[in-house]
Amino acid sequence: MIKKQRIDKLNKKILEGYSDKKVVLGHGNINSSIILIGEAPGSKEVELNKPFVGQAGKYFDDFLEILEIDREKVYITNTVKYRPTKKSLKTEGVVNRPPTKKEIESFKEYLFEEIDIISPSIIIPLGNTPLKALFQEEHKISEVHGSLFNILINNIEYNVFPLYHPAAVIYRRELKKVYIDDLKKLKKII
Ligand code: URA
Repeated sequence: MIKKQRIDKLNKKILEGYSDKKVVLGHGNINSSIILIGEAPGSKEVELNKPFVGQAGKYFDDFLEILEIDREKVYITNTVKYRPTKKSLKTEGVVNRPPTKKEIESFKEYLFEEIDIISPSIIIPLGNTPLKALFQEEHKISEVHGSLFNILINNIEYNVFPLYHPAAVIYRRELKKVYIDDLKKLKKII
């Protein structure tokens, strides 16, 4: 089966499996050699039905600019494909929350199939959530960012280069330099 058919079939399976949720599917060039994996969509992503189009998306675009990569040339997806929310104690409104272990686990099979279909030469997990899905052992992004790893997913070897989540730079300005240094390293690799 060709890639397009495989990804359509997978997307249909995800949409059917989570028909009670607003699912944001992976997006971009399915023939890309790079797959970027975020945490989960936020409200803007749900509204526009596309990953990384909200505030974190702006940082994400800066990041692609540094790498001199066109957004439409890469494939972007999320570990968990719906927006995990909780009730805000302050406003009583709905706010984002990090995905639970269970949510990450329940999407893992889909994520692995997505990776198998895209068949990238490098996987870029953004932050701790995709790390939890990809690595069997527990790793913290603060310890593994900016280094190249080799992992096995369903018996296939992949290069993995973890980066901080772009939103981390919004809250922790001191990470900006680290982030840029990691991106420069990545640029040399790809
Ligand atoms: N953060 C993510 O991890 N993914 C998105 O799609 C948006 C924000």
